[in-house]
Amino acid sequence: PEQVDAAKARIKALLVRENAVLVAHYYTDPLIQALAEETGGCVADSLEMARFGSQHPATTLLVAGVKFMGETAKILTPHKRVLMPTLEATCSLDIGCPIEEFSAFCDQHPDRAVVVYANTSAAVKARADWVVTSSIALDVVAHLDAQGQKILWAPDKHLGGYVQKQTGADVLLWDGACIVHEEFKAQGVEDLKRRHPGAAVLVHPESPDAVVALGDVVGSTSQLIKAAQTLPNSEFIVATDQGIFYKMQQLCPDKTFHIAPTAGSGATCRSCANCPWMAMNALDNLEQTLRDGSNEIFVDKALGERAMLPLNRMLAFTK
Ligand code: 13P
Ligand code: SF4
Repeated sequence: PEQVDAAKARIKALLVRENAVLVAHYYTDPLIQALAEETGGCVADSLEMARFGSQHPATTLLVAGVKFMGETAKILTPHKRVLMPTLEATCSLDIGCPIEEFSAFCDQHPDRAVVVYANTSAAVKARADWVVTSSIALDVVAHLDAQGQKILWAPDKHLGGYVQKQTGADVLLWDGACIVHEEFKAQGVEDLKRRHPGAAVLVHPESPDAVVALGDVVGSTSQLIKAAQTLPNSEFIVATDQGIFYKMQQLCPDKTFHIAPTAGSGATCRSCANCPWMAMNALDNLEQTLRDGSNEIFVDKALGERAMLPLNRMLAFTK
């Protein structure tokens, strides 16, 4: 604990020295989330991270999360310096949607509005009409459907399938998945629910549809946190990365949270309900990048200008 306190004190001084603000996702190490809170930064879902970074006056954004979050920050504010604790932290959805194949897919379906999840590369965003996060995917697709538009959705097939079901829109799906959420098992959730009959089930829509079907609330990380606060239940079964428990427990100290079961367990399943890329963010690499300016995010200028359009559309949609 003394070492942690010392590291936190050094990082606080570096944030001031570099005129930087820490923008962290709910899945990062609780130490990082606490640090963001203590230093006037933010801990948020991917939509609010994007909004916070684009509005904050700091000249350097230190983004603790995965690469698409740093890229989004850079695209929205190209004049700012964007640093990340590591450049290795990617996302299986981003990996599973390479721009060449995606672009060809779009070319085959020119009659469809291209809606991509924020968990994609800058190049994929630049090919899109709309970028959405899980907190506004339903609303944006319902809006497009009401205008009679057909949709091409990428990359997460589970979120896309959920959106299709809820809105009834004509949605053509790309075949991508999150390796973390895909591991949640409906049978396990049902068994756990039998042992905790009063528990409400909170599910992130990147989970398989059989798990989503068991959700009392289905939503983005911030929507699940809100549900934990507002529902009267004192127990919850949560199907998303367990990093979210830091905020849930902080806001609801008297409530109990159980992680939804996954296929593996214990030591055989190190990344179960724990995104391996989010876990690459730590106090030491965070301090290092702030100290020497390493791990800066760069986005090609023309690509960034193109990708900024659907990103700004996303932010404007929920203003
Ligand atoms: P949220 O937008 O709900 O925070 O989700 C981001 C993410 O990567 C979920 O796995
Ligand atoms: Fe990507 Fe899944 Fe990790 Fe989120 S939890 S960053 S969707 S791999």
